[in-house]
Amino acid sequence: MDEPLIPAPLVFRDDGTPYSPRHDDIYHSAAGALAQARHVFLDGNGLPARWRVKRRFIVLETGFGMGINFLATWAAWRDDPHCTSALEFVSIEKHPFSADDLRAAHAAIIDDTAVAPLADALASAWPPLEAGVHRLAFVPGAVTLTLAFGAADDLLPRLADHGLTADAIYLDGFAPARNPDMWTPAIFASLARIAKDDATFATYTSSGHVKRALIDNGFDYRKVAGFGGKRAMLVGKRAHSRSVIDS
Ligand SMILES: C[S@@+](CC[C@H](N)C(=O)[O-])C[C@H]1O[C@@H](n2cnc3c(N)ncnc32)[C@H](O)[C@@H]1O
Repeated sequence: MDEPLIPAPLVFRDDGTPYSPRHDDIYHSAAGALAQARHVFLDGNGLPARWRVKRRFIVLETGFGMGINFLATWAAWRDDPHCTSALEFVSIEKHPFSADDLRAAHAAIIDDTAVAPLADALASAWPPLEAGVHRLAFVPGAVTLTLAFGAADDLLPRLADHGLTADAIYLDGFAPARNPDMWTPAIFASLARIAKDDATFATYTSSGHVKRALIDNGFDYRKVAGFGGKRAMLVGKRAHSRSVIDS
């Protein structure tokens, strides 16, 4: 039986950046939430170019938060004239916001009027705060969001058992030093089960612990320029096909 969820409180630092008292960390860089999503997660995974050669493109995210990465991805997909794929976004969140707090967060941090209607659609479709999997369809047959409410270490193996595969992985679970639960060996082992042969990943962090876990689980990484004055972040891909790992 799934444990009852504890929702996240909506708290801002003095500079307006959303902050988690539970993890003593910020949800996004003070330099801009959408700009961070585009630099770290879209550019970091070679998007939009990579979805142009697929009929179905699946993103897996650890840590849905306010859904900024989802909204930036959906907006890029909507605005891509060469897009031929359906977008499936799967994200895990242990402490979701209430629908009202999600709306308030979006009102405070979304600085792009072209994204605002998507944020409104997300808040209107927001599921009840009950543990488990919630499937939301936005553009019928073309954009779906699967929200898995609960702890990543519990849900990732279950999603892998159900056959989830991913083309791109967004690792966004607060800083590893402040939230080690999102960066355990078991989490990386599940990600290795889920990543397709040509899967890529991107993450804001460049911690040594994460680099070692990536290598241990069959991913190659590169250090590239970070966002908002941060020197480095990590991007990468599977080092070997799944058949090599499985054999
Ligand atoms: C940096 S925020 C994510 C920001 C988000 N991707 C966005 O675009 O708004 C990290 C998120 O991970 C969630 N989280 C932390 N530990 C978790 C865990 N063990 N399992 C699942 N989610 C977790 C937090 O509640 C938080 O919402």
